[in-house]
Amino acid sequence: MLHTALTTAFFICHVFGLHVYMGNGDVRCFYENLVPGSLLKAKFQTAIVIDEMDFNQQVDFNLTALISETFDNDHIALRQQVGPEGETVFTALGNGEHRICLKSAISEPHVMLRVQLAFEISRLQLPDLDITQKAKSARDRIERLVARMETLRNEQRATKAREKAASKLSEFVHSRVLFWSLFQVLVLITSCTIQLRALKCFLQHHP
Ligand SMILES: *[C@@H]1O[C@H](CO)[C@@H](O)[C@H](O)[C@H]1NC(C)=O
Repeated sequence: MLHTALTTAFFICHVFGLHVYMGNGDVRCFYENLVPGSLLKAKFQTAIVIDEMDFNQQVDFNLTALISETFDNDHIALRQQVGPEGETVFTALGNGEHRICLKSAISEPHVMLRVQLAFEISRLQLPDLDITQKAKSARDRIERLVARMETLRNEQRATKAREKAASKLSEFVHSRVLFWSLFQVLVLITSCTIQLRALKCFLQHHP
């Protein structure tokens, strides 16, 4: 948590405060080079500057913030109405010069606005990159685990197949051995019988 706070604080590039006076229909622009992922925070504090003579006047005003990309045919990336104490947060998607403009509309033409501005630009790529890298390494770890599990499963399958083959072979050998043993017993019995018969014959003929 502290680490995150420190990194975030570290990447805030600049904050500056200044003020401008604006009449009805005035446009004030500022330029800033932003890289993708930059976070631009703009704060506005607007006060009406009235002559003592017009003290009772009811003044209505609108202040519009416009952010456009000068590198992309002045494409307007943000348009926002800001109140007397407004804030605009903008994340740059393109790389290049951005124009930040303020446009005023005041109901009384001779009344001026005093707009106090504070810009703060933070570069969020590094923490983002950090998160992306963490996600990537986690995904890599999962992929490695899955691969290892697959290998283990294959090994298990191979072992099972080998066991099956071995048991088949032993069954085969066993049945063969049994067959031949029986065969030998039969041969022995037959030869014994024949020999006994021959002996009996021999003894009967030569008492
Ligand atoms: C400010 O905006 C509102 C609504 O968009 C509009 O009705 C009003 O006339 C505007 N005031 C001025 C001074 O342009």
